[in-house]
Amino acid sequence: MATPRTLSFLFLFFFFFFVVVVVFASGAIAQSLPPPRQDGFVYTDHRVDSDTVVVEAFLDPVCPDSRDSWPPLKQALQYYGPRVWLVVHLLPLPYHDNAYVASRALHIVNALNTSATFHLLEMFFKQQERFYNDQTKNMSRAAVVNSIVKFAAQVVGNSYYSSIASGFNDRLTDLKTRVSFKYSTSKGVYATPSFFLNGFLLPDAGSPIDYNGWRSFIDPLIAAQGQRR
Ligand SMILES: *[C@@H]1O[C@H](CO)[C@@H](O)[C@H](O)[C@H]1NC(C)=O
Ligand SMILES: *[C@@H]1O[C@H](CO)[C@@H](O)[C@H](O)[C@H]1NC(C)=O
Repeated sequence: MATPRTLSFLFLFFFFFFVVVVVFASGAIAQSLPPPRQDGFVYTDHRVDSDTVVVEAFLDPVCPDSRDSWPPLKQALQYYGPRVWLVVHLLPLPYHDNAYVASRALHIVNALNTSATFHLLEMFFKQQERFYNDQTKNMSRAAVVNSIVKFAAQVVGNSYYSSIASGFNDRLTDLKTRVSFKYSTSKGVYATPSFFLNGFLLPDAGSPIDYNGWRSFIDPLIAAQGQRR
Protein backbone atom coordinates (compact mmCIF):
# COMPACT_ATOMS: atom_id res chain seq x y z
CA MET A 1 0.00 0.00 0.00
CA ALA A 2 1.22 3.49 -0.81
CA THR A 3 2.34 5.47 2.20
CA PRO A 4 1.46 9.17 2.48
CA ARG A 5 5.13 9.86 1.83
CA THR A 6 5.19 8.05 -1.53
CA LEU A 7 1.90 9.69 -2.43
CA SER A 8 3.28 13.15 -1.79
CA PHE A 9 6.39 12.20 -3.71
CA LEU A 10 4.23 11.09 -6.63
CA PHE A 11 2.22 14.27 -6.40
CA LEU A 12 5.36 16.41 -6.49
CA PHE A 13 6.74 14.37 -9.37
CA PHE A 14 3.63 14.84 -11.48
CA PHE A 15 3.32 18.47 -10.52
CA PHE A 16 6.91 19.06 -11.65
CA PHE A 17 6.26 17.10 -14.86
CA PHE A 18 3.17 19.19 -15.53
CA VAL A 19 5.08 22.47 -15.03
CA VAL A 20 7.82 21.32 -17.44
CA VAL A 21 5.24 20.40 -20.09
CA VAL A 22 3.41 23.71 -19.74
CA VAL A 23 6.62 25.75 -19.88
CA PHE A 24 7.85 23.91 -22.96
CA ALA A 25 4.51 24.08 -24.73
CA SER A 26 4.08 27.82 -24.17
CA GLY A 27 7.73 28.36 -25.08
CA ALA A 28 7.12 26.73 -28.45
CA ILE A 29 4.12 28.96 -29.11
CA ALA A 30 5.94 32.14 -28.10
CA GLN A 31 8.79 31.14 -30.38
CA SER A 32 6.66 30.89 -33.50
CA LEU A 33 4.42 33.95 -33.08
CA PRO A 34 4.78 36.49 -34.42
CA PRO A 35 6.70 34.76 -37.20
CA PRO A 36 10.04 36.16 -38.36
CA ARG A 37 8.53 36.78 -41.80
CA GLN A 38 4.94 37.55 -42.73
CA ASP A 39 2.90 34.58 -43.82
CA GLY A 40 1.91 34.14 -47.45
CA PHE A 41 3.22 33.41 -50.91
CA VAL A 42 3.46 36.55 -53.03
CA TYR A 43 2.20 35.86 -56.53
CA THR A 44 2.86 39.13 -58.25
CA ASP A 45 6.44 40.23 -58.37
CA HIS A 46 6.15 44.00 -58.56
CA ARG A 47 6.33 47.04 -56.36
CA VAL A 48 3.48 48.01 -54.12
CA ASP A 49 2.51 51.63 -53.50
CA SER A 50 -0.48 53.29 -51.87
CA ASP A 51 -2.56 52.92 -55.07
CA THR A 52 -1.89 49.22 -55.47
CA VAL A 53 -5.02 47.16 -54.88
CA VAL A 54 -4.13 44.35 -52.49
CA VAL A 55 -5.80 40.95 -52.78
CA GLU A 56 -5.26 38.38 -50.05
CA ALA A 57 -6.49 34.94 -51.00
CA PHE A 58 -7.02 32.21 -48.41
CA LEU A 59 -6.85 28.85 -50.14
CA ASP A 60 -6.69 25.15 -49.36
CA PRO A 61 -4.72 23.13 -51.94
CA VAL A 62 -7.17 20.20 -51.80
CA CYS A 63 -10.38 22.25 -51.77
CA PRO A 64 -12.43 22.14 -55.00
CA ASP A 65 -13.79 25.67 -54.56
CA SER A 66 -10.27 27.02 -54.09
CA ARG A 67 -9.30 25.21 -57.29
CA ASP A 68 -12.23 26.71 -59.18
CA SER A 69 -11.46 30.20 -57.93
CA TRP A 70 -7.88 30.18 -59.20
CA PRO A 71 -8.23 30.56 -63.02
CA PRO A 72 -10.55 33.62 -62.91
CA LEU A 73 -8.37 35.26 -60.26
CA LYS A 74 -5.31 34.73 -62.46
CA GLN A 75 -7.18 36.16 -65.43
CA ALA A 76 -8.08 39.26 -63.42
CA LEU A 77 -4.47 39.69 -62.30
CA GLN A 78 -3.36 39.49 -65.89
CA TYR A 79 -5.87 42.17 -66.81
CA TYR A 80 -4.88 44.60 -64.05
CA GLY A 81 -1.13 44.00 -64.23
CA PRO A 82 0.90 45.99 -61.68
CA ARG A 83 -2.20 47.73 -60.28
CA VAL A 84 -3.11 44.60 -58.30
CA TRP A 85 -0.92 42.68 -55.88
CA LEU A 86 -1.77 39.15 -54.68
CA VAL A 87 -0.60 37.18 -51.70
CA VAL A 88 -1.86 33.65 -51.06
CA HIS A 89 -2.31 32.34 -47.53
CA LEU A 90 -2.98 28.68 -46.88
CA LEU A 91 -5.81 27.51 -44.68
CA PRO A 92 -5.62 23.70 -44.46
CA LEU A 93 -9.19 22.81 -43.50
CA PRO A 94 -9.44 20.11 -40.82
CA TYR A 95 -12.09 18.13 -42.70
CA HIS A 96 -9.81 17.76 -45.72
CA ASP A 97 -7.61 14.94 -44.40
CA ASN A 98 -4.56 15.77 -46.51
CA ALA A 99 -4.76 19.56 -46.56
CA TYR A 100 -2.10 20.02 -43.91
CA VAL A 101 0.39 17.69 -45.60
CA ALA A 102 -0.24 19.36 -48.98
CA SER A 103 0.18 22.81 -47.40
CA ARG A 104 3.39 21.72 -45.72
CA ALA A 105 4.68 20.47 -49.09
CA LEU A 106 4.06 23.97 -50.47
CA HIS A 107 6.08 25.53 -47.64
CA ILE A 108 8.88 23.00 -48.18
CA VAL A 109 9.03 23.68 -51.91
CA ASN A 110 8.77 27.43 -51.38
CA ALA A 111 11.88 27.29 -49.20
CA LEU A 112 13.76 25.21 -51.82
CA ASN A 113 12.74 27.25 -54.88
CA THR A 114 10.36 30.15 -54.40
CA SER A 115 9.52 30.28 -58.11
CA ALA A 116 8.17 26.73 -58.03
CA THR A 117 5.56 27.35 -55.32
CA PHE A 118 2.70 28.40 -57.57
CA HIS A 119 3.52 25.73 -60.09
CA LEU A 120 3.03 23.15 -57.33
CA LEU A 121 -0.15 24.85 -56.09
CA GLU A 122 -1.59 24.69 -59.61
CA MET A 123 -0.68 21.02 -59.91
CA PHE A 124 -2.41 20.30 -56.61
CA PHE A 125 -5.47 22.03 -58.04
CA LYS A 126 -5.23 20.03 -61.27
CA GLN A 127 -4.87 16.64 -59.60
CA GLN A 128 -6.41 17.23 -56.21
CA GLU A 129 -8.84 14.26 -56.52
CA ARG A 130 -5.86 12.02 -55.80
CA PHE A 131 -5.67 13.53 -52.33
CA TYR A 132 -9.35 13.65 -51.41
CA ASN A 133 -10.54 11.86 -48.25
CA ASP A 134 -12.24 8.97 -50.06
CA GLN A 135 -9.33 8.30 -52.39
CA THR A 136 -6.85 8.11 -49.50
CA LYS A 137 -8.93 6.54 -46.77
CA ASN A 138 -7.11 3.20 -46.93
CA MET A 139 -3.69 4.83 -46.83
CA SER A 140 -1.56 5.34 -43.74
CA ARG A 141 -0.40 8.84 -42.99
CA ALA A 142 3.16 7.84 -43.93
CA ALA A 143 1.91 6.57 -47.30
CA VAL A 144 0.10 9.86 -47.94
CA VAL A 145 3.22 11.89 -47.07
CA ASN A 146 5.25 9.63 -49.35
CA SER A 147 2.85 10.07 -52.21
CA ILE A 148 2.81 13.86 -51.78
CA VAL A 149 6.63 13.94 -51.69
CA LYS A 150 6.72 12.00 -54.97
CA PHE A 151 4.04 14.21 -56.47
CA ALA A 152 5.85 17.41 -55.51
CA ALA A 153 9.18 16.09 -56.79
CA GLN A 154 7.61 15.23 -60.13
CA VAL A 155 6.30 18.77 -60.37
CA VAL A 156 9.37 20.75 -59.30
CA GLY A 157 12.09 18.36 -60.46
CA ASN A 158 13.16 14.94 -59.25
CA SER A 159 16.50 16.33 -58.08
CA TYR A 160 14.47 17.84 -55.23
CA TYR A 161 13.08 14.49 -54.08
CA SER A 162 15.34 13.96 -51.06
CA SER A 163 15.16 17.61 -49.98
CA ILE A 164 11.37 17.50 -50.07
CA ALA A 165 11.33 14.20 -48.16
CA SER A 166 13.65 15.56 -45.47
CA GLY A 167 11.58 18.74 -45.36
CA PHE A 168 8.85 16.62 -43.77
CA ASN A 169 11.24 15.82 -40.90
CA ASP A 170 12.15 19.45 -40.37
CA ARG A 171 10.21 21.04 -37.52
CA LEU A 172 10.60 24.46 -39.14
CA THR A 173 8.36 23.51 -42.08
CA ASP A 174 5.73 22.30 -39.63
CA LEU A 175 5.92 25.61 -37.77
CA LYS A 176 5.56 27.60 -41.01
CA THR A 177 2.45 25.64 -41.91
CA ARG A 178 1.06 26.21 -38.43
CA VAL A 179 1.70 29.94 -38.83
CA SER A 180 -0.35 29.88 -42.07
CA PHE A 181 -3.20 28.19 -40.24
CA LYS A 182 -2.96 30.58 -37.30
CA TYR A 183 -2.73 33.64 -39.50
CA SER A 184 -5.83 32.61 -41.44
CA THR A 185 -7.88 31.79 -38.36
CA SER A 186 -6.70 34.96 -36.61
CA LYS A 187 -8.33 36.87 -39.49
CA GLY A 188 -11.56 35.01 -38.79
CA VAL A 189 -11.28 32.99 -42.01
CA TYR A 190 -13.07 29.65 -41.74
CA ALA A 191 -13.84 28.78 -45.37
CA THR A 192 -11.83 28.57 -48.57
CA PRO A 193 -11.60 30.36 -50.83
CA SER A 194 -11.88 33.64 -48.90
CA PHE A 195 -10.64 36.91 -50.31
CA PHE A 196 -9.73 40.21 -48.73
CA LEU A 197 -9.62 43.27 -50.95
CA ASN A 198 -7.60 46.16 -49.51
CA GLY A 199 -7.96 44.51 -46.14
CA PHE A 200 -11.72 43.87 -46.24
CA LEU A 201 -13.41 40.50 -46.60
CA LEU A 202 -15.38 40.03 -49.82
CA PRO A 203 -18.88 38.51 -49.52
CA ASP A 204 -19.70 34.82 -50.13
CA ALA A 205 -16.60 33.37 -48.49
CA GLY A 206 -16.21 29.75 -49.49
CA SER A 207 -17.35 30.31 -53.08
CA PRO A 208 -15.22 31.10 -56.11
CA ILE A 209 -15.44 34.58 -57.67
CA ASP A 210 -15.58 34.60 -61.47
CA TYR A 211 -13.74 37.03 -63.75
CA ASN A 212 -16.71 39.42 -64.02
CA GLY A 213 -17.02 39.33 -60.26
CA TRP A 214 -13.40 40.46 -59.89
CA ARG A 215 -13.95 43.22 -62.43
CA SER A 216 -17.03 44.43 -60.56
CA PHE A 217 -15.06 44.58 -57.29
CA ILE A 218 -11.83 46.11 -58.57
CA ASP A 219 -12.91 48.47 -61.40
CA PRO A 220 -14.73 50.85 -59.02
CA LEU A 221 -11.71 51.00 -56.69
CA ILE A 222 -9.42 51.98 -59.53
CA ALA A 223 -11.97 54.50 -60.84
CA ALA A 224 -12.22 56.04 -57.36
CA GLN A 225 -8.44 56.38 -57.19
CA GLY A 226 -8.56 58.28 -60.50
CA GLN A 227 -11.09 60.79 -59.12
CA ARG A 228 -8.83 61.53 -56.18
CA ARG A 229 -5.92 62.65 -58.34
C1 LIG B 1 12.88 26.94 -59.79
O1 LIG B 1 11.58 26.84 -60.30
C2 LIG B 1 11.38 27.47 -61.56
C3 LIG B 1 9.89 27.40 -61.89
O2 LIG B 1 9.37 26.11 -61.76
C4 LIG B 1 12.27 26.80 -62.59
O3 LIG B 1 12.11 27.43 -63.85
C5 LIG B 1 13.73 26.87 -62.15
O4 LIG B 1 14.53 26.16 -63.04
C6 LIG B 1 13.88 26.30 -60.75
N1 LIG B 1 15.24 26.53 -60.27
C7 LIG B 1 16.00 25.54 -59.84
C8 LIG B 1 17.37 25.93 -59.36
O5 LIG B 1 15.64 24.38 -59.81
C1 LIG C 1 -10.56 0.65 -49.29
O1 LIG C 1 -10.65 -0.67 -48.80
C2 LIG C 1 -11.96 -1.23 -48.93
C3 LIG C 1 -11.95 -2.59 -48.24
O2 LIG C 1 -10.85 -3.35 -48.62
C4 LIG C 1 -12.29 -1.34 -50.42
O3 LIG C 1 -13.60 -1.87 -50.58
C5 LIG C 1 -12.25 0.05 -51.04
O4 LIG C 1 -12.47 -0.02 -52.44
C6 LIG C 1 -10.89 0.70 -50.79
N1 LIG C 1 -10.94 2.09 -51.24
C7 LIG C 1 -9.98 2.64 -51.99
C8 LIG C 1 -10.20 4.05 -52.40
O5 LIG C 1 -8.97 2.04 -52.33
